[in-house]
Amino acid sequence: MKITTHIFLLVAMILFASFNKQETGIQLQNLRCEMLVNPEGIDVVKPRLSWEIISPQRNVQQTAYQILVASSPEKLANNEADLWNSGKVNSDESIHVKYAGTTLKSKKRVFWKVKIWTNKGESAWSDNAFWSIGLLNYVDWKGRWIGLDRSFEWDNETQFSRLSARYFRKEFQAKKTIKQATVYIVGLGMYELYLNGQKVGDQVLAPVPTDYTKGVKYNTFDVTKLLQKGNNAIGTVLGNGRFYTMRQDYKPYKIKTFGYPKMLLNLDVEYTDGTKETISTDDSWKVTADGPIRTNNEYDGEEYDATKEMPNWNKVGFSDSNWLKAQLVQEAGGMFEAQMTENMKVMETIKPVSIKNLKDNTYILDMGQNMAGWLRLRVKGKKGDKVTLRFAETLQSTGELFVRNLRDAKVTDVYTLKGDGQEIWEPSFVYHGFRYVEITGFPTFPTIDDFDGRVVYDDMATIGEFETSDKTINQIYKNAYWGIRSNYKGMPVDCPQRNERQPWLGDRTTGAYGESFIFDNVRLYSKWLNDIEQAQKPDGSIPDVAPAFWRYYGDNVTWPGTYITIADMLYHQFGDKETIKKHYPSMKKWIDYMQEKYLVDGLITKDKYGDWCVPPESLALIHAKDPALQTDGILLASATYVRLLDVMQQFARLLNKPEDAKAYSKVAEEIKKAFNQKFLNTQKGQYSNGTVTANLLPLVYEMIPANEKTKVWNNIVNKILVDNKGHISTGVIGTQWLMRGLSQNGRADIAYKIASNRYYPSWGYMAENGATTIWELWNGDKANPEMNSGNHVMLLGDLIIWYYENIAGIKSAKDAVAFKKIIMKPEMIDGLNAGKASYHSMYGTIKSDWKKDGNKFQWNICIPANTKSLVYLPTNSLEKVTEGGKKVAGIEGIKFVKTEGKQLIVEVSSGNYSFSVN
Ligand code: BGC
Repeated sequence: MKITTHIFLLVAMILFASFNKQETGIQLQNLRCEMLVNPEGIDVVKPRLSWEIISPQRNVQQTAYQILVASSPEKLANNEADLWNSGKVNSDESIHVKYAGTTLKSKKRVFWKVKIWTNKGESAWSDNAFWSIGLLNYVDWKGRWIGLDRSFEWDNETQFSRLSARYFRKEFQAKKTIKQATVYIVGLGMYELYLNGQKVGDQVLAPVPTDYTKGVKYNTFDVTKLLQKGNNAIGTVLGNGRFYTMRQDYKPYKIKTFGYPKMLLNLDVEYTDGTKETISTDDSWKVTADGPIRTNNEYDGEEYDATKEMPNWNKVGFSDSNWLKAQLVQEAGGMFEAQMTENMKVMETIKPVSIKNLKDNTYILDMGQNMAGWLRLRVKGKKGDKVTLRFAETLQSTGELFVRNLRDAKVTDVYTLKGDGQEIWEPSFVYHGFRYVEITGFPTFPTIDDFDGRVVYDDMATIGEFETSDKTINQIYKNAYWGIRSNYKGMPVDCPQRNERQPWLGDRTTGAYGESFIFDNVRLYSKWLNDIEQAQKPDGSIPDVAPAFWRYYGDNVTWPGTYITIADMLYHQFGDKETIKKHYPSMKKWIDYMQEKYLVDGLITKDKYGDWCVPPESLALIHAKDPALQTDGILLASATYVRLLDVMQQFARLLNKPEDAKAYSKVAEEIKKAFNQKFLNTQKGQYSNGTVTANLLPLVYEMIPANEKTKVWNNIVNKILVDNKGHISTGVIGTQWLMRGLSQNGRADIAYKIASNRYYPSWGYMAENGATTIWELWNGDKANPEMNSGNHVMLLGDLIIWYYENIAGIKSAKDAVAFKKIIMKPEMIDGLNAGKASYHSMYGTIKSDWKKDGNKFQWNICIPANTKSLVYLPTNSLEKVTEGGKKVAGIEGIKFVKTEGKQLIVEVSSGNYSFSVN
């Protein structure tokens, strides 16, 4: 009797427990290790783990978690956590939880899962996720670097270098059945890797570029499925990328070349009997440079001769007797680093919109969109026919390509046919920035169906969507989206088309923050901070371009300061504190260096670019010459430096360095005093010559003495509305704060006026005049082509931040990070009747979708589990608010906080809500 009761009780308990779990419906998804989608071969031994909680219920908050990490999926399935069992940890942390198990060694593959407890019950165990450790130590690498340190008769080593691709091959025998095979490759400048004729991975233009003398990235792939017992063949192709680039050799401070392409590869094979073998690069590999890729150069194009193809060169049995022996070469020099950011990929394929016959056999293809990537073609013809493709962003009035703004980049791809039925071709080692393509030599009458636009950028998810009732704003957003994706090239570059394509720091100071609403760019930017750190001189100086392919060590403030603002962005948007910790010493070193060298009488005396690219007085000019339009360089440098000191103070406090924080604050106060003495004209209520930028920076950086603030503010408003008739007058620096500065001070209406303007100068003017991306210059349609790209992102300033934070009203609160606490606060602006956005944060998707119609306001929002939000409703009376058609009092997940002016604030816990205000 007793036993049966016990059994009955036990069964009841089990039933109840599983019923309970089903009831909660709480699921865990998007398990991330180091925020990587594919954490294969990482070199972080204590990675951070994150998960997202999905629940149909409202008001779900995590109260505890448990993580299990095991050395095999089987062990994990049995809950046998031989590497780490965190135990039940009472905590609401669900992002960046640091692994704290057994020390992991090179090549270790581990499996993990997590479960959580919440105020609404517990979840089941998540699905398994995994990560693997790369080669942590230099000595883990076997074999030698191989290459060919020479050119060939068909190459031409001048400024417009022509160097053919190098093809390598090696056959080996796998004597037993393979259990697991992993390949590690450093292929410089760029590689393609094949196993038994099959391409490994879907990456292109890999690996991401670095200063190869400081660091080189290796890529890791699980290739178990591509190998077989018995004979196997490895094939690689090396292109030039940024490694071999004679292109810059006309200016001494530009890096000429890192040498000839080279590689190091380790293929680790583990057999089912537990034995292991490594196949690595050495001089038993064969190589040829006499293959189909006759030349490849990022700026000048790729030439491919299909008559030179070597069928089956990357498969077993190919006769390579006339290939050369690979040469053992010097290694690149940089530290070996696991690539912890995505490679580039073909992210989208688009169809051209038209093709026109220009003359004879010359056609102009229009993609309908300025883009970065390349053209894929399908062609039939005779052996030896040559199709030539040239790329440009715009056309001349004659209908021909306009290429003067590309400077001396030749941007020309050539395909020579083998005459073998339909041939499909796309290049391997170049990309172009273009909307139009000139096609000559096409053997038949070409139609748009013969071509595809291949959109290429870093393989990162689009995590944001945004739309409003304003058509101009929507078009600008679309242009920005295309511009930003065009310029992610393993580093954020300035432009994808002309002979430049450099990672200029100043172009991203706040841009990176705005971009983070649209793209999951956390890994790209943390990689870039490493590039910047590697580019720092021993004395502390930071260049304007990093990796410093162009060695611009000008000791400017506004461009290098991006090092600090991006670390701040990664923390604010993604909760990444580790990055701040890692870079703090180098950031501090730069701050100290600038202070010692350039702080004179309380002002920073060095500036290089001014408020770069303000709308000039004459439409043909690139830069304004009129001093009234320019802002004093010392003002820009000093104000920016104060802002950076403020961020550094926050970092110091975060890292528990109160002494540093105090020191930063002291210098900031000194500068503020000297700054006001020097630049503030109390009679006029303006700084310096009173440009919007000159007044705006001290306003947003809180440098203005309290009693002068109103005057300066009025001055800004006046300048915009009266002097500039509602137009923008700021350059790269001022535009970084313009939209937020106006909104924070209660004039979102002026920000909206600027944002929706379709007349010169404005973003809308660009769109109105045919732009499908964002121009480098406000007058990009009229200015001198010498410095005039049609696809630059720097003039976006803080516009995208404003779209998401102020129009959609989705913002991470200041007193938390990564949207753990969300401020939902759209601006109510006359004339703007709807705003809608979704943003996939680390915790999950946040949505805001509002509409207003007269006095009626309807707002649907979605708040992810394990976060809370403060929701600002446009009324001061709770009586006027309903949620899901009911009065809000007593509704689960909603708490009244207070009224503030014309707004009512409620705290809302996770879930979907539908508010109405009548
Ligand atoms: C680049 C810019 C860059 C600037 C700084 C230009 O040539 O394209 O984006 O920030 O130079 O001087």
